[in-house]
Amino acid sequence: MKLITANEKMADAVHGNYLLIPVINRFGIRLGFGDQTIGAVCANAGIDTDFFLAIINAFSNEDYFPAKKLRAVNVLTIVSYLKKTHDYYRRTLIPVIESYIAALLAKSLKRNPGLRLVKKFFLEYKKELFAHLRSEETRTFPYIEMVYRLHAAPGTPRVRKDLRRYSMDVYEREHHEVDEKLTDLKNILIKYIGGEFDDAVCSAIVFELFRLEKDILDHTRIENIVLMPMVAEMEKALRLR
Ligand SMILES: [Fe+2]
Ligand SMILES: [Fe+2]
Repeated sequence: MKLITANEKMADAVHGNYLLIPVINRFGIRLGFGDQTIGAVCANAGIDTDFFLAIINAFSNEDYFPAKKLRAVNVLTIVSYLKKTHDYYRRTLIPVIESYIAALLAKSLKRNPGLRLVKKFFLEYKKELFAHLRSEETRTFPYIEMVYRLHAAPGTPRVRKDLRRYSMDVYEREHHEVDEKLTDLKNILIKYIGGEFDDAVCSAIVFELFRLEKDILDHTRIENIVLMPMVAEMEKALRLR
């Protein structure tokens, strides 16, 4: 497996895997990098190059997951990256899929009322996904930021009380992704669609659903394998105080 390195040109990394574009964008890096290396682009944008490389390499290779490297990164940096990923789902990827579904229905719904099912399943999936994102943003991430602050300030009083409201154990137990609904949605299009429909729009929807699935899988791995153990360690240290 060939890993992407800091001396490689950013443009070459994108030529090697165009799916990295939205991941790179998430860091605030935009297309138009000329011949700059990844190290130079990251330095200009004020981004930790090692963290950037760990994220894009994990994204490019299913068998590679640099848990150790990621765990060396500040937990707040990781949370900030995860939040940006949530924003990407909510503001970009889901609206794109939604507009394709609207186009699919606009073209053929009159002659194919069964297509309504695609929209129905999509809306159910969207609702569950957004609830998941919201729960992490309103409960999990603020808790993690609090644990980080307490951990960074030794001798903080009432630590135990603050830790009782929530914990990484609870997060672990409750952290179920909405992948079943996504699989159902994919299957409606792949297995069961019939009658009149636009092939190009339909395949565009399926492509985006696979892309979303892959992105979420990668995101969830960071939450489960990196974030949870890092914060659990801080909780443990705080409880011993
Ligand atoms: Fe998340
Ligand atoms: Fe999650």
